[in-house]
Amino acid sequence: MMKKKVVLITGGTSGVGLAIAKSFAEIPTEIVLVGRNRARAIAAVQEIQSLSPSSDVSYLLGDLADPTENKRLATTFMTTHSRLDILFNSAGNIPKTASNNIALNLQSHYWLTHNLASTLEKSDDPRVFIITGMPLAIQLGPVYEHQFNLVDRGLWLLTHKTLLVTILAHELKSWHIKVNALFPGGVQSDLLPWTKNLGNTEVAIASKLATQSRYQTITGQFFDDKGNLVRLNNRKYGLKRAKSVLKRYLPLKTDLN
Ligand SMILES: NC(=O)c1ccc[n+]([C@@H]2O[C@H](COP(=O)([O-])OP(=O)(O)OC[C@H]3O[C@@H](n4cnc5c(N)ncnc54)[C@H](OP(=O)(O)O)[C@@H]3O)[C@@H](O)[C@H]2O)c1
Repeated sequence: MMKKKVVLITGGTSGVGLAIAKSFAEIPTEIVLVGRNRARAIAAVQEIQSLSPSSDVSYLLGDLADPTENKRLATTFMTTHSRLDILFNSAGNIPKTASNNIALNLQSHYWLTHNLASTLEKSDDPRVFIITGMPLAIQLGPVYEHQFNLVDRGLWLLTHKTLLVTILAHELKSWHIKVNALFPGGVQSDLLPWTKNLGNTEVAIASKLATQSRYQTITGQFFDDKGNLVRLNNRKYGLKRAKSVLKRYLPLKTDLN
């Protein structure tokens, strides 16, 4: 019998994360959703169970943008699970401040992935995904550090998440943990007024990228919503650049020598 995959999905209580959780309906999995709001988490569990009554799904609550809660949540998960096969970092927002952007849309993914690395390592095929935005904006947008307005903060999070994938893939390579970015397409969510009105509630590619053997060895890359690799400029998003930009935000473990 196929071993159940253990899947943790941050932001799994809404929008993209919930759509990702639903993409596992046909695959034997144990899914743990993460969010802050209990009522939302219960509703998400019920929605998944109504679609797939035999699904094994639960939730954990915590503010991932708080390093202490981020650590506590990872510890709670590890006390109840002996391994983690798949981690989707989909918790995110449209940040009102630079500090919230840095904490939630960048640091929380780095902290949680490292906080869970020892349990990911116990999987025979650990895969981590960072949910990100439009490929064209990431390919064309400049990498800069100022975050004066909403546009700056949006571009900052897209470019810095892409650099984060480069760093995490490198840092976790010797642990055999693969780390990639995923653009989920436009998905109905609470993110913005216009995403509430989107018709799409599926990210069908998510479970395929997370489980199919043809994606097993790919790391440090960027997938679009069709599962195609998005080409990135290595000078812009390579390891050297990633380290020099992200060292002011993250306690990097990367040794470039
Ligand atoms: N929707 C789209 O079309 C689209 C397209 C491309 C990329 N994305 C990206 O997808 C990600 C998720 O957005 P979404 O559209 O799914 O928005 P959403 O419907 O607002 O969902 C956000 C999720 O993140 C959780 N969350 C937010 N802050 C958190 C925190 N501090 N700690 C723990 N959990 C937190 C929320 O739960 P609680 O509020 O209960 O904490 C919720 O489950 C974002 O990074 C967004 O940029 C979305």
